Amino acid sequence: MVLSRIASETDASIQSTFASRYVQTSLPRFRIPEQSIPKEAAYQIINDELMLDGNPRLNLASFVTTWMEPECDKLIVASINKNYVDMDEYPVTTELQNRCVNMIAHLFNAPLGESEAAVGVGTVGSSEAIMLAGLAFKRKWQNKRKAEGKPCDKPNIVTGANVQVCWEKFARYFEVELKEVKLSDGYYVMDPHKAVELVDENTICVAAILGSTLNGEFEDVKLLNNLLAEKNKKTGWETPIHVDAASGGFIAPFLYPKLEWDFRLPLVKSINVSGHKYGLVYAGIGWVIWRSKEDLPEELIFHINYLGTDQPTFTLNFSKGSSQVIAQYYQLIRLGFEGYKNVMENCQANAMVLKRGLEATGRFNVVSKDNGVPLVAFSLKDRSRHDEFDVSDWLRRYGWIVPAYTMPPDAQHVIVLRVVIREDFSCTLAERLVGDIKKVLHELDALPPKNGSNVIAMNVVNSWKKFVNDKKTNRVIC
Ligand SMILES: Cc1ncc(COP(=O)(O)O)c(C=O)c1O
Repeated sequence: MVLSRIASETDASIQSTFASRYVQTSLPRFRIPEQSIPKEAAYQIINDELMLDGNPRLNLASFVTTWMEPECDKLIVASINKNYVDMDEYPVTTELQNRCVNMIAHLFNAPLGESEAAVGVGTVGSSEAIMLAGLAFKRKWQNKRKAEGKPCDKPNIVTGANVQVCWEKFARYFEVELKEVKLSDGYYVMDPHKAVELVDENTICVAAILGSTLNGEFEDVKLLNNLLAEKNKKTGWETPIHVDAASGGFIAPFLYPKLEWDFRLPLVKSINVSGHKYGLVYAGIGWVIWRSKEDLPEELIFHINYLGTDQPTFTLNFSKGSSQVIAQYYQLIRLGFEGYKNVMENCQANAMVLKRGLEATGRFNVVSKDNGVPLVAFSLKDRSRHDEFDVSDWLRRYGWIVPAYTMPPDAQHVIVLRVVIREDFSCTLAERLVGDIKKVLHELDALPPKNGSNVIAMNVVNSWKKFVNDKKTNRVIC
């Protein structure tokens, strides 16, 4: 079959030789083609182009799940045509989401009565979950201020400078001032003392992170709770806490059950977690859980009935897929507490293999902690010949995707490389990665030195600019 040529400029079209068995002309890149092509050709063209993407399993930048069991893949494909929002038509899917919400709320020690239902919702990821939690705090604070006859036009939120970009998005999109606690050398998470100092009568909540994106460290939520409770007592304010447990929410309950970071702490009013990170589901699912009904203002919940019965909804978008909800339910019942614990222990053990291997080279300082998210963040001890960005670039040649980035203010002079250990990153791969890092160092050592320390200094400046840019465009490694 020969199609007439549509695109006039060659560079605006997609060429494909293999698919030319079916299509002997190129397709326009930015305009919808005039004519149809056979399904085999469409498949081939797209599949071929996608081969140039990185291999997700070797993408060590991402916390997001890249492997699931084939049985779950079957469930995902079988439900790919179900719109989650059609709750009346797919009542079982809705029921499964409610079960997940309740299971996660219990995992986070929500103070629920015997037959009391948990308050929470499935979201597209932690970002949507955080927008919803933030909105609930903002509205509660506004209602209280209005009732007291006080101004409510200058809400703020207190976080560490290490927050993920979604908090900055929340602040900008929903007009809340973001008050960030600066980091310092060797201390890369929010200091609870400094956070509480920043709290004022306009603070809608303090957001703590259980598993910093930058180095995996858990922030001290218990200390924050205690310091904030003291301040609340003195001032009469009721400033609450949100815990961004995007990664840590599916780690701490299994590895550190005694660690108090969740609803056991009275000021923690809501928690988000990414189902698609250590919840072990493919990209597209997160959860937000509220401590109780009182913490989610009723006016934010919409009730719709045109799909059948009355359906309460509190999400930013309307339609979405059902597959991820079903996949989350699969993982929860398939693995159970025992299975999640095994997976997390295994990830920690593999993180230790990598950490020890890197330390044994004598070339790196490890800046991640052993008891946070299973990841290894590390810096070069000596940057006089090459820096972490060079190591990252050269590792690409071996197929590894390992990001390098600068820390936020005031630790921006620190550059780290970060490897996230997921379930599918085995001990063998960890050993292999150490071997390849050694080879890269050897290759870089053999190069003539870069043009003195100015080059390194420029690299730091450029990478800081890149970090800020990436943060703006949501490209910072998640
Ligand atoms: C601490 C933290 N919060 C929020 C997010 C955003 O999560 P999601 O990708 O699920 O929207 C991330 C992503 O890495 C994260 O690390």
